Amino acid sequence: MKPLIVGNWKCNPESLKEAQKLFLELNKRMPKKAQAVVCPSFIFLKDLAARKSALQLGAQNCFYQSGAFTGEISVKMLKNLGVKYVIIGHSERRALGETDKLINLKLKAVLKEKLIPILCIGESKKDRQNNRTALKLKNQLKKDLKGIKFSKMVIAYEPIWAIGSNNPCRIEEATVTKLLIKKYLREVFSNKKAEEIKILYGGSVNKKNASLYIKDAKMDGLLIGGASLKAKEFIDILKQFC
Ligand code: PGA
Repeated sequence: MKPLIVGNWKCNPESLKEAQKLFLELNKRMPKKAQAVVCPSFIFLKDLAARKSALQLGAQNCFYQSGAFTGEISVKMLKNLGVKYVIIGHSERRALGETDKLINLKLKAVLKEKLIPILCIGESKKDRQNNRTALKLKNQLKKDLKGIKFSKMVIAYEPIWAIGSNNPCRIEEATVTKLLIKKYLREVFSNKKAEEIKILYGGSVNKKNASLYIKDAKMDGLLIGGASLKAKEFIDILKQFC
């Protein structure tokens, strides 16, 4: 099974022209067999979705309802554009005040529309230093997955301190943490179902360390921020697995 490689463009680039350029370059050089998703800003999704591509599209967020919610984007709107994945609960959104309760509602809404959520979880530096990583991740999963029956979903383990810091998680730490997340998923869903949930690693991934997370830490894929904005680097990462 090819790893799932997801690019999170965050609040970049600043014009449609630049977004199109990046997308076209990725599209042109992408290895045929790669399993890749890019998550651009909402405002670029319509234009990029209209282009024929093997790259799948994801959104970086969503709202869980439609109607009188000024400024929000509903899951149905995303679905109607052809978006397949939705990142939920990224730590940068949690830092802006997104709670586990809201994340749980968003997850349910995404699953109801049969899109695939990429649920982000991760501990702070302080949690890790105080040996609270397992507890923190378990708590997030418990609250975020409350009342959710098994469906196709992806979990992204992103230690907050490793994001955009050039200080990626050590491979041994990532290996142990992946097993821990899997163990918890087995407790929530059945053993067989838990096996179907892909677990990605994210946090300062680049072309030099990408394969270590897949081959050594046995991650099922990667969630990549900074390096996904550089077409050549993202393609170099994809090529390592094809
Ligand atoms: P980074 O971001 O690769 O720039 O560390 C990862 C993410 O936030 O998803």
